[in-house]
Amino acid sequence: MPLERPADDVGITLIEALEWQRAYCGSAGSPMAAALLSALIDDLSGPRVVADLIADQWRFGDLPGLRLMSAVHRLALERRAPLVALHCPTLGGSIPSGDEALRVWQAAVVQCVLDHPDEVQRGLSHVPQTNETGRARLLRGAMSRLGPQPVRLVELCASAGLNLRADHLPGDAALEVGPLPPVIERIGCDLAPIDPATPEGRTLLSSYVWIDDVERFARLSHALDVAADIPVNLVQADAADFAESLTLTPGATTVIWHSAMWVYLDATTRSRILAAIDALASKTTPVAPLAHVSWEWRPTGTADGEPFALIMRRWGAPEADGRPRVIARGHSHGPGAHPVDELLDREPLADV
Ligand SMILES: C[S@@+](CC[C@H](N)C(=O)[O-])C[C@H]1O[C@@H](n2cnc3c(N)ncnc32)[C@H](O)[C@@H]1O
Repeated sequence: MPLERPADDVGITLIEALEWQRAYCGSAGSPMAAALLSALIDDLSGPRVVADLIADQWRFGDLPGLRLMSAVHRLALERRAPLVALHCPTLGGSIPSGDEALRVWQAAVVQCVLDHPDEVQRGLSHVPQTNETGRARLLRGAMSRLGPQPVRLVELCASAGLNLRADHLPGDAALEVGPLPPVIERIGCDLAPIDPATPEGRTLLSSYVWIDDVERFARLSHALDVAADIPVNLVQADAADFAESLTLTPGATTVIWHSAMWVYLDATTRSRILAAIDALASKTTPVAPLAHVSWEWRPTGTADGEPFALIMRRWGAPEADGRPRVIARGHSHGPGAHPVDELLDREPLADV
């Protein structure tokens, strides 16, 4: 399957989904994550000992490859799959040297799935909850364009809400055009909010980092420490319900932010969120402005290898006309994103 993202409601087989995820991990510089997926692909193409444990048909947007990687990583993090953990770079392990060592490790991956069917099922049924704080640099880039008025940060599908602390997380000078406004409120929702202060929350969040991405692992560890000092108000709610409950606050810019979540939503939820934002936009004034900032997969045209776009729409503030402006492009996780300036005619999320 080519790396271009298929329409996200496309029904695909497990092997197709895993092959897509393997190509994506390979192209993103994660050979061990790709090798983990190869272990499962090779089994499903040959002995098929794990075939009965994993459903064969998936919607593309379910990303079963990500779910399986996380289930195996979690077992390694909990030291319940010691042979897998041995070569996990996120646990200080070294990449197997040579084909034979790699084959032994891949056999351990398959064995780990066989040994822990309940945990694997739990992982497969769990919507991926990566909370990637590399994306905070995109939100910061957008916030740096808002001027000095205080900001209320609102995040849809926030996972553990780590990016609601964006102003306390590392930024990228290339993406920021001025000082960040002060943040006076931080609120968010998720269907299954994670408490980053608990060991379970920390393990779950860590499991969604790809097993050889030590840079992301370190970034997450830092963000978890920051989260302990900066409280947020995170509620368990569907994103559309939550968006429909939002109001504006005079004296502050309300910033509605979301990242890497659109693909998980059904068409009705997407339409309701966009309609809720339009309804709020119609109530804005110069003292109660609104910004909608998203870092999501572009609907088409990933051939240049930069599938994500940072798009901002603004209402209420001087010269804000609600038109979507692409202000950065890059890879899903955030680092390496670069600024662009492209005015669009319509909100591309309406087409995804
Ligand atoms: C891949 S994570 C992204 C988390 C975060 N936005 C980030 O960029 O790090 C997607 C999140 O969306 C949440 N989610 C999916 N559908 C949702 C819905 N309808 N309402 C609220 N949260 C939802 C999941 O629980 C998960 O935490």
